Amino acid sequence: MSTSLKKIRTSTLAAMKQAGEKFACLTSYDALTTEIFDEAGIEVILVGDSAGNTVLGHENTLEITLDEMVSFGKAVATAAKHSLVVVDMPFGSYEINSQQAVESAIKLMKQTGSSAIKLEGGSSRIAQIEAIVAAGIPVMGHLGFTPQSVHAIGGFKVQGRGDSAAQLIDEATKLQSAGVFAIVLEMVPASVAATITKQLVIPTIGIGAGNQTDGQILVWQDFAGLSTGSRKFVKQYASLRTDLSAAAKAYRAEVQSATFPSKEHSFED
Ligand code: KIV
Repeated sequence: MSTSLKKIRTSTLAAMKQAGEKFACLTSYDALTTEIFDEAGIEVILVGDSAGNTVLGHENTLEITLDEMVSFGKAVATAAKHSLVVVDMPFGSYEINSQQAVESAIKLMKQTGSSAIKLEGGSSRIAQIEAIVAAGIPVMGHLGFTPQSVHAIGGFKVQGRGDSAAQLIDEATKLQSAGVFAIVLEMVPASVAATITKQLVIPTIGIGAGNQTDGQILVWQDFAGLSTGSRKFVKQYASLRTDLSAAAKAYRAEVQSATFPSKEHSFED
């Protein structure tokens, strides 16, 4: 493990924005993947509720529970030595009222050891954000396409185009006033994300939001080429699906031919 990497805090991200330095974020849901990203210097690791899709095989992010997020969050926060670990609040854990939101956020922080939580939504979530921030918990916002509202939005659609740009910019400003330390902008026109990034003091983190945001985030199985399907905003930096498939086929063939295990991988008397 590299010891030269410093511990990233919310204040580090604020300072990076001030200095005009961009930062990289990835999702992770387990210890080994986290170790790799942490040692690579990825500034923020998000324990996203995308674990519902990528790990649990659900169709969307609505089914994953608070307890499941606790398990993933604990594995990641335990493994991360430098990266800032943020855990998603799952659907159903914060919408009812501020008390429910604070209780869920406290559970995530206490039982995972992470440094912050993220929740989705704009004006309708201000009370919850203010209450969680008042409890001393750093909150990351999430605007634009918010996957927990996929049914309300009517599918995977770019948000903030045309007339709705002004509303998105206004929501971002409201979230900043409510106390979030950063905002994820998902599937937002690059020009709108650039405007929000310029107007806000806090950092923005884009996913499908162009290259003018302060940080970028990708779901790790997408960036590593493990998932199937392609999204316009995803760039694959590895071909894990192809590599693992080839490895599985080679292993099977060697088992069939009894070339594995060889002497090298066997114990002697
Ligand atoms: O759950 C998740 O992975 C996310 C990112 C896509 C931002 O919210």
